[in-house]
Amino acid sequence: MSLAAPASPPEELPEDLEEAILELKAERNAVLLAHYYQESEIQDLADAVGDSLGLARAAQKVDKDVIAFCGVHFMAETAKILNPERTVVIPDMEAGCSLADGCPADAFRAFKAQHPDAAVVSYINTSAEVKALSDLICTSSNAVQMVEHFKGRPLIFAPDRHLGRFVAQKANRPDLILWPGACVVHEQFSAKGLAQLKVRHPEAEVLAHPECEEAVLAQADFVASTTGIIDRAVESPAPTLIIATEEGVFHQIRKRVPEKELIQAPGQDESCSCNQCPYMRLNTLEKLYLCLRDLEPEVTVPEDVRLAALRPIEKMLELSA
Ligand code: 13P
Ligand code: SF4
Repeated sequence: MSLAAPASPPEELPEDLEEAILELKAERNAVLLAHYYQESEIQDLADAVGDSLGLARAAQKVDKDVIAFCGVHFMAETAKILNPERTVVIPDMEAGCSLADGCPADAFRAFKAQHPDAAVVSYINTSAEVKALSDLICTSSNAVQMVEHFKGRPLIFAPDRHLGRFVAQKANRPDLILWPGACVVHEQFSAKGLAQLKVRHPEAEVLAHPECEEAVLAQADFVASTTGIIDRAVESPAPTLIIATEEGVFHQIRKRVPEKELIQAPGQDESCSCNQCPYMRLNTLEKLYLCLRDLEPEVTVPEDVRLAALRPIEKMLELSA
């Protein structure tokens, strides 16, 4: 008879996790930054909740020893690039992003070599190595402005082809050279399902993230970053909002306008929770507690890569100040 290896004992966790996290945060002299796609309990504990641009700005102003970053790896990495002297931890090191993962630095270097005269605007959803190969970084809230910065020059836009196509239209840059990446969450919204839903809710306004497919964006009344979607949901005169982005944004909207009806845009497969980012949702309160307790997993960036990536990030922050 073979004996199975004993399972490792379960972690001892405090009963009141929220309280324990706040105590550890003070003990570690830490700041807690969270993206809107985190679970509500994490958003409510954070010192700052924001979209990618808001979180990069918040990271630039940190004066604590430790940043506990509740978001995906490229966001925590950006915080580290801006804060080389501080410790940056993330609850789950596997919290990646289909856009960043689908644009490896070696392949991107080869793509860039095919367009030697082109400048490069990279979406913040990229690795530090890809940022280091870029002239300017953008987020969903300033992408049009960042592309317009390179008027008259051939331009590569990476890695989201849907955001790239949207920006090419807005900035009148049909020549934009696009890396063919996509977000697994935003690509799964169904244009057909949305058209059917709009018929049932003629009073609704449709708010969408620019990572959605063209046929979804074509039906949207308002296209913006997560912060833009939340602000519009609050300000819109419409009593009903159909929202095509990760459902984490619902928490902030409900806090500010609880009377409004919020409807998630339908996905192509209604049997799954595909409107939740599988990477963002790897972070949990338990893992946040452990990462503050153990100060790991720690996000690090080699110094040569950090310095090369810092330049286009700082330029973006200057241009969109
Ligand atoms: P925002 O910058 O709009 O929050 O977008 C981040 C992201 O990953 C969208 O999927
Ligand atoms: Fe990346 Fe999409 Fe998740 Fe945003 S929602 S972090 S783009 S996989």
